[in-house]
Amino acid sequence: MESYINSTNFFVGNKPEDLAAKFGTPLYVYNEDILRNCMRTVKNIITKYPYTANFSIKANSNIHIIKLAIEEGLNCDAVSINEAKLLLHAGQSKEKIFFVPNNVSADELQEAIDLGIMTALDSLDQLERFGQINRGGRCAVRLNPGVGAGHHEKVITAGKNTKFAIAADDVDNALAVASKYDLKIVGICQHVGSLFMDPTPFLQSVTNLLYMAKKFKDLEFIDFGGGYGVPYHKLNDEQPFDFAELSRKFEALLDDYVNEVGYAPLFKTEPGRYVCCEGGVLLGRIHATKNNAGKKYAGSDIGMTTLVRPSLYESHHDIEVIRDNEVQTPSNSEVEPITVTGNICESGDILCKERELPVIKTGDLVCLLDAGAYGYAMCSEYNSRFKPAEVMIMHDGEAKLIRRRQTFEDLLSLY
Ligand code: LLP
Repeated sequence: MESYINSTNFFVGNKPEDLAAKFGTPLYVYNEDILRNCMRTVKNIITKYPYTANFSIKANSNIHIIKLAIEEGLNCDAVSINEAKLLLHAGQSKEKIFFVPNNVSADELQEAIDLGIMTALDSLDQLERFGQINRGGRCAVRLNPGVGAGHHEKVITAGKNTKFAIAADDVDNALAVASKYDLKIVGICQHVGSLFMDPTPFLQSVTNLLYMAKKFKDLEFIDFGGGYGVPYHKLNDEQPFDFAELSRKFEALLDDYVNEVGYAPLFKTEPGRYVCCEGGVLLGRIHATKNNAGKKYAGSDIGMTTLVRPSLYESHHDIEVIRDNEVQTPSNSEVEPITVTGNICESGDILCKERELPVIKTGDLVCLLDAGAYGYAMCSEYNSRFKPAEVMIMHDGEAKLIRRRQTFEDLLSLY
């Protein structure tokens, strides 16, 4: 497709320059309808058995997006006690929160116990700690299904090279720790990693986890984790994740398990990225262009503090160039190789390297696509830059500020 923002009418009639004038740049902009559609998709991954999709809010913990997820009937995952408290604050009920931390203190576990939130323990040691403070309690364990998947080695969370989860070889030891403290393991979970477009490794992990599940008695739930991918190369016609294929093959594996054990526990998934990625874009302003040693650079106000994914994982985000509210495309503009950078004092502060893009001029807006997941959530104040504002374009076209930009007073407020 030539333009995602045009073909989806992403701004629902708002002019990008008006959004930039009213809210400033850099600016995260979300589209309510797209977010809701993605939430509905994950809610229906499994329809044949009792099932919940848990929005993994680490991908985007803006309270207004959490509230949309609650309205759409999603459960939620928290990876820190603060995420759990944020969820409660947003109105999520404690029964619909699943706490999946790693390497947390006994105090943090105690807080989850006091709040009545189901917790998954990610090592024998943490299970032991949980047992010491909550003898006779109920909990889940996070298991390593032996297969990982993900867009970068830094986001693969199962298999041989990972800090996460209890290894298959240790399942008997986990059961022994549980019985030592009278703990009831009512659920098991896994997460193979983040962003796969081919479901094959994930389905293998499902098979492996279901095999391990048979060692546990009377499981109330089995959670298969997240990772469902988003096409980050949509301007090059990369196709969406095939949920129909996933569901068909996923349910077939569940059929075998349910037939063998004779009942269906509650099945869960934990999608983060898929829920909020395509419903968010990032608008920035080009403040300088230059040629250095024969290469053209366009310098924007989107630094690695605003979107760290390109510098951290060399992740690709499609970029649309907007001049006078018109999206520049190969059909209406010349293209040239250009490196788009941010405003942070590091040479790795780069959004894309020598990419063929419509000619960029000082004063243009750039719009980074697929910025709704792990965008704002990973912002920092490095270089004493403010965290940006976030706006949601509502179904009726209203542009609603859902988090204000930081101010200088915010930066001083911790001293
Ligand atoms: N469950 C657990 C236990 C997780 O650790 C994660 C993500 C998820 C669910 C959700 O995975 P998703 O559906 O979003 O792939 N910052 C990286 C992604 C890190 C993901 C970490 N865990 C990125 O920007 O690509």
